[in-house]
Amino acid sequence: MHGRVFGEGRKVRLRLLDIEACVGALQGFAMEIQDCNSDLVTEVVATSDPEVAFKGADVAVLLGGFPRLPGMERRDLIAKNVPIMAEHGRALAKCAKDGVRVLVVANPACTNCLMVTERKISPVLMNDEAATSAPSIPRSHFSSLARLDQDRLSAMLAENLCSEETLEQTSGGARTPLSGDVSLPQQEPERQHAVRTRQDRNILQLEGPGVRGVYVWGNHSPTMWPDVSGAEAKIDGRWVPLQTALQRDGGLPNGTGLLSPAREDGTAPDLDSAWHDWISETLVPAVRERGTKVIEARGKSSALSAANAIANHLKDWLHSSTSGTHAGVSMGVFSDGNPYGVPDDVVFSFPVECGEGRHRILNGFRPDMAMLDESAKELLEERREALETLRESERQAL
Ligand code: LMR
Repeated sequence: MHGRVFGEGRKVRLRLLDIEACVGALQGFAMEIQDCNSDLVTEVVATSDPEVAFKGADVAVLLGGFPRLPGMERRDLIAKNVPIMAEHGRALAKCAKDGVRVLVVANPACTNCLMVTERKISPVLMNDEAATSAPSIPRSHFSSLARLDQDRLSAMLAENLCSEETLEQTSGGARTPLSGDVSLPQQEPERQHAVRTRQDRNILQLEGPGVRGVYVWGNHSPTMWPDVSGAEAKIDGRWVPLQTALQRDGGLPNGTGLLSPAREDGTAPDLDSAWHDWISETLVPAVRERGTKVIEARGKSSALSAANAIANHLKDWLHSSTSGTHAGVSMGVFSDGNPYGVPDDVVFSFPVECGEGRHRILNGFRPDMAMLDESAKELLEERREALETLRESERQAL
């Protein structure tokens, strides 16, 4: 609405898609968009017909699907959401522009992204006259959302280690910790919502954009691997490895809530092992479980942070170029031919450089292969389940 995603001054026509029962509410939403009086939004259509929604589309964001509820994992949605993705894939192939770029957000996002492009397995669903007469969309035009996980990782690092600015909470209620074990002290004076600052408990004074060089690899699931091995912080005008910066500033002191101050035998942990322990025992699980925690708190899955991550993803992929800036981003893309030995034919989050609608998986990282294998195995299993679901839908359609 303000040109952040597609570029300043770029006009957009919006087609909103939902199931028939929800089109009334969607029309209300369309009215609200009109009432924002944006001179960039030239048309808003609310529809339950995927072919209307995707007609002539340059960009499609696939959000629609059965939502994850408390107690569910994302892969529990395969049976419900894969047939929807197959239907959307067919409508996209038939109606969208050849150059359409598709971002899949509905869960399980990686496997859904694979299934949107699936044509060979299910002739009834995908290979009918409409689909085969439509131009095929290259796999490189599809991606799934991993940026929410990367944003969560960056936010948790900045929250726990870096002092960029003073954060104040002036309304009532307890402050929500970003990562599991960072909590308000027991003896918070009088008002629990009293002003707290990052400086109270953080270590690094940073300049500019906090940290960079963090990525999330693999599936959008509890097997994802949040990778901070290349994290850098800007200090005295220079980007330096975060671990070096922490060492320079005296390590991870007691009272940060990040580490137990001493080991069981009473000795202080050395910085390297303390850092690695904090990453594996606190940071990685916190990123992996963040979606679940949001659902537990809200009763629904993330909305604002997901919308923000979608905007970040689309802006970097379609509009701005991250090429040559050291600012790779995490994106779920087809694994075919990747340099890390992840099996072909799954959608997997890698660090990529991107811009102008293209992406390239970045080479030269030394990821934790055991972590990548775990996620790849899970994705292969999800693919098997998803294909079985498609076959079952096909049998029922006959
Ligand atoms: C998220 O990570 O917040 C979303 O994928 C929603 C979910 O199911 O967790």
